[in-house]
Amino acid sequence: MSTAPLPANAGTVPGPHHVAIIMDGNGRWAKARGLPRVAGHRRGADAVRRIIRGAAELGIPVLTLFAFSTENWTRPQAEVSDLMGLLRHYLKHELDELARNGARLRVIGDRDRLASDIVRDIGEAEAKTRGNTRIDVNICINYGARDEILRATRSLARKAAAGEIAVDDIDEARFERELLTAGVPDPDLLIRTSGEQRISNFLLWQCAYAELVFVDTLWPDFEKGHLEEAVVEFRRRERRYGGVGS
Ligand code: IPE
Ligand code: IPE
Ligand code: MG
Repeated sequence: MSTAPLPANAGTVPGPHHVAIIMDGNGRWAKARGLPRVAGHRRGADAVRRIIRGAAELGIPVLTLFAFSTENWTRPQAEVSDLMGLLRHYLKHELDELARNGARLRVIGDRDRLASDIVRDIGEAEAKTRGNTRIDVNICINYGARDEILRATRSLARKAAAGEIAVDDIDEARFERELLTAGVPDPDLLIRTSGEQRISNFLLWQCAYAELVFVDTLWPDFEKGHLEEAVVEFRRRERRYGGVGS
């Protein structure tokens, strides 16, 4: 379990306290309608808006959305550039909506490979939403869990080699501080849409004890009601963390 602080209301509400979503199925949504894949991504962006609002209304304190993986660069260049275009648009035009929902935005991922204007817009969007306190919205862009774990490992190795830390002091809490999600509590519910049942290199460390919910709905069709159903399913689960349970 993460040693990062849980949200202030954790323990007083049944949870989930942090919902992570692998937003999958945009391409299949478009294909089923004879539309180009970008049409699915556009409708996917509408679903992002809807689900952020829905999560805020449901009292979910932290929402993390997987938008673009380190492996998604292998897609045709035209699709990658459509996705980056949508991201540019989102960062410029969703700030009012984020504010209305009380959403504080944080972008998680390696920014080095992103265009400089996108990196700048991410910084501005994070700064402008910093004071919002109803829901934390993390959007993972150029995120890959193996890449994240390797970077954390290299950083700790460098610090150990420089004599800044002792190797034996590297415990879970120290390791987590090197991850891109430092300070974010672990997800307790991981949802993947579109019927695929895999993790695809998302939050491998952080989801060690997350409850997994796979839904057949394609991401552009995902509504607040589907999120609510996943929350109900989460509350039915018995979480044991390796113990014997109740
Ligand atoms: C998810 O939808 C969005 C991204 C991964 C960027 P997909 O584009 O993966 O849609 P499918 O899986 O091809 O249907
Ligand atoms: C996972 O979806 C990545 C995102 C949702 C951003 P993919 O569509 O890229 O995953 P695979 O290729 O089906 O595993
Ligand atoms: Mg996919």
